[in-house]
Amino acid sequence: MRRNIVAGNWKMNLNYSEAVDLINELNAYDKPLNTELIVAPPSLYLGAFKDAQNNLLLSAQNVHTELNGAFTGEISSTMLHSLSIPYCIVGHSERRTLFHETDALIFDKVKSLLSHEISPIFCCGESKEEREQGDAYKVISQQLNLLLSKLDAGQIQQTIIAYEPVWAIGTGLTASPEDAQLMHHHIRKEIAQHFDVSVSENISLLYGGSCKPENAAALFSKQDIDGGLIGGASLDFSSFISIAKSFS
Ligand code: 13P
Repeated sequence: MRRNIVAGNWKMNLNYSEAVDLINELNAYDKPLNTELIVAPPSLYLGAFKDAQNNLLLSAQNVHTELNGAFTGEISSTMLHSLSIPYCIVGHSERRTLFHETDALIFDKVKSLLSHEISPIFCCGESKEEREQGDAYKVISQQLNLLLSKLDAGQIQQTIIAYEPVWAIGTGLTASPEDAQLMHHHIRKEIAQHFDVSVSENISLLYGGSCKPENAAALFSKQDIDGGLIGGASLDFSSFISIAKSFS
């Protein structure tokens, strides 16, 4: 179901006591927000945080394609399911680049999550070179291709898609609201072409990449932008809440 979402990707940050402090602050926040709040802490903390959450929903940052076995250091969809974790980020550009994850591998992760009732937060995004060469739309279509051609309508509607231009992640450079809207519109149009408009209108599309309290409202005011996937600014309670309050 399409809804406003602000999700914090903590990446590999915060020691345990810092993480507990932040979760406690977020849990204690009881003012109504017209958005769903998600946090993705390091997987090591998921078990401890799952009962503490009040207004928050939890996400993992990664998952393996296999369900169990000799895969030292990995976690599986069955494990996440056994903790009732509702979301998992997949396809983040850091995993694509630093861990050499391919579209095919990412798609296997998506399938594994969906078959365990976990909604993927599927990231896509073009590099600076790809944008400069005029290939941004082509790259995003390519990254989405397996999802759109192989999932059914029910499965795609369980999925959240985050557009995160690689050049904007952690750089302080943000896509302009107009450019972000154009790409979100492109993504929604592609979904409508593979399925139909009722399906595409039912999916939340998030923007990620140096999203901050100062620029969130302008981004979230755009028609096809339903919220944000936030890195650095999600590590600070006031910034994260301020972004969550940015919907008009
Ligand atoms: P920043 O908000 O730090 O740019 O990170 C965005 C991101 O990668 C979220 O997944």
